Amino acid sequence: MSPTPAFLGKDLVGLERLSADQLRTILDTAEHFKEISERRIKKVPVLRHKTIVNLFFEASTRTRISFEFAEKRLSADTVNIVAAGSSLQKGETLVDTARNLEAMRIDMVVMRHGSSGAAQFLADRIPSNVINAGDGRHEHPTQGLLDLLTIRDRMGRIEGLKVCIVGDILHSRVARSNIYGLLTLGAEVAVCGPPTLMPPAATELGVRVFTRVEEAIEWADVLNVLRLQLERMEAGYVPSLREYNRIWGVSTARLEAAKRDLVVLHPGPMNRGVEIDSDVADGPHSVILDQVTNGVAVRMAVLYLLAGGQPEKAEAAKQGGET
Ligand code: CP
Repeated sequence: MSPTPAFLGKDLVGLERLSADQLRTILDTAEHFKEISERRIKKVPVLRHKTIVNLFFEASTRTRISFEFAEKRLSADTVNIVAAGSSLQKGETLVDTARNLEAMRIDMVVMRHGSSGAAQFLADRIPSNVINAGDGRHEHPTQGLLDLLTIRDRMGRIEGLKVCIVGDILHSRVARSNIYGLLTLGAEVAVCGPPTLMPPAATELGVRVFTRVEEAIEWADVLNVLRLQLERMEAGYVPSLREYNRIWGVSTARLEAAKRDLVVLHPGPMNRGVEIDSDVADGPHSVILDQVTNGVAVRMAVLYLLAGGQPEKAEAAKQGGET
């Protein structure tokens, strides 16, 4: 593999600064890697000599496990560290933790952290590649990428589509990564939710703002429904969960009233019966489990490209050839 990672640079902290060419290349590379997960023996030697640390300071199911599957399926050596049970609980700083990991000769760190900016902070201080697995309210770039891949798979394109992100925009790193990626690839983007859960400068991000979910559904080709992040809220953002569902919940009745046959995404974990009804989550509009499947392929692509893999050699790399 090339000693000078060039295509994506050293780190993936967010989608904000990626070009359309870079985004498309990650998605195309993920398409190459998808079939590995369909094989009986789900393992190729692409990252055979790499050691990767998954450092999670916040809870995660999908992101942590799909990174781990992606790493193992590409033959990397992986170690998982969660805050509980590590010396982080004794007050060790992030940088000291990372420097100690570096001293054990690692190559990459995948990190989820509750503070916006934590991924960039770490990337600026260690030579290993850093991949942001979600930092505070800032970005969740691999979630944004897997959402883009799922939309492109289902709709055949991203350019010109109308995509509305519905729900708790204020606390959402997923919303930000989606907005940057979708706008760069030529989609029209809107956000919809209660004014209390809307960032004050939402329109400065280049998106439309809807406060009525019926209007958003009328406008959109794709809905990306976000979880109410109850753990990041103090009281008072919404009157009650029942009220939220009544006013902003995505239900079959609301989808049936729309002119178009909408596609519905949700990054998970879902609050069923709050932001999305079960019959939508499990029904024909939903691509929620496709998102999860695509998450492994997207993370394989990001790991491969940050490790210096050449996009045009992804197919050969899977066979154990030159990258
Ligand atoms: N979508 C997502 O980030 O899910 P997890 O919190 O389970 O990783």
